Amino acid sequence: MSSSNKVALITGASKGIGLGIAKSLLADGYAVVITGRNAESLSQAKTELAQDSLVLDVVADVRSLEDCRAAIDQTMRRFGRLDVLIANAGVGHFAPIDEMTEDQWNQTIDINLTGVFNSVKSAIPPLKESKGYLFTIASLAGANFFPKGAAYNASKFGLVGFTQAVMLDLREYDIKVSTLMPGSVSTYFNNRVPSEADAWKIQPEDLGQIVSDLLKINPRTLPSKVEIRPSRPPKK
Ligand SMILES: NC(=O)c1ccc[n+]([C@@H]2O[C@H](COP(=O)([O-])OP(=O)(O)OC[C@H]3O[C@@H](n4cnc5c(N)ncnc54)[C@H](OP(=O)(O)O)[C@@H]3O)[C@@H](O)[C@H]2O)c1
Repeated sequence: MSSSNKVALITGASKGIGLGIAKSLLADGYAVVITGRNAESLSQAKTELAQDSLVLDVVADVRSLEDCRAAIDQTMRRFGRLDVLIANAGVGHFAPIDEMTEDQWNQTIDINLTGVFNSVKSAIPPLKESKGYLFTIASLAGANFFPKGAAYNASKFGLVGFTQAVMLDLREYDIKVSTLMPGSVSTYFNNRVPSEADAWKIQPEDLGQIVSDLLKINPRTLPSKVEIRPSRPPKK
């Protein structure tokens, strides 16, 4: 089956990395479902994607398993199949442990870790049917710890472990599973606004290209854990 009949759902795709991946998959002929918590941002993203009939925007908070299941139901009603899930939605709160609030901790774990569980759990039936591909977006922070990173490092180390275990569970169904571990990407993450000073960083479309390339490699091979870093970071 060519990618022009295929469908991808990307969580947290109203901006940043998720939107970059949506653009690449649309260019490859996929229909895409984009989710996020804010209807207005999703609608703006849909306008930017400019392919109305191939884009479905669904308000869904990954913290809710019910929302995730409803997003899959809408996907199936609209497009009839799901070939690719990109569990991308995530947040970053950074503070030393003595200053980190319970709310920051809970949000980080609930979105970055439980949110991925909810997204994956609800997508398994259609992915089994399509023998599809599941990506999680972890981080280099899932392999390298740093000060103020207690919550974020815990969520991303956890996500790398989760994804590798899920990869072993799902390969017997011919579902491929990869976790991408990017370094600095120019996005709205942690209340930043992308600027020209971010030119050295990975750009969202670069990750879109990597997803697109991974979807095309021979199915007998699986890059299950992919570290991606800016090739020329500024000197410290
Ligand atoms: N930027 C980096 O340097 C970097 C590096 C490595 C890994 N990552 C990871 O990449 C992923 C995407 O981050 P980004 O950099 O693209 O950040 P971003 O520009 O802030 O985008 C985050 C997206 O996730 C959505 N989102 C947040 N919480 C959500 C929830 N509970 N349910 C559904 N959607 C939610 C946001 O929309 P709403 O807020 O409207 O819901 C938005 O669409 C995250 O998992 C992040 O940890 C980022």
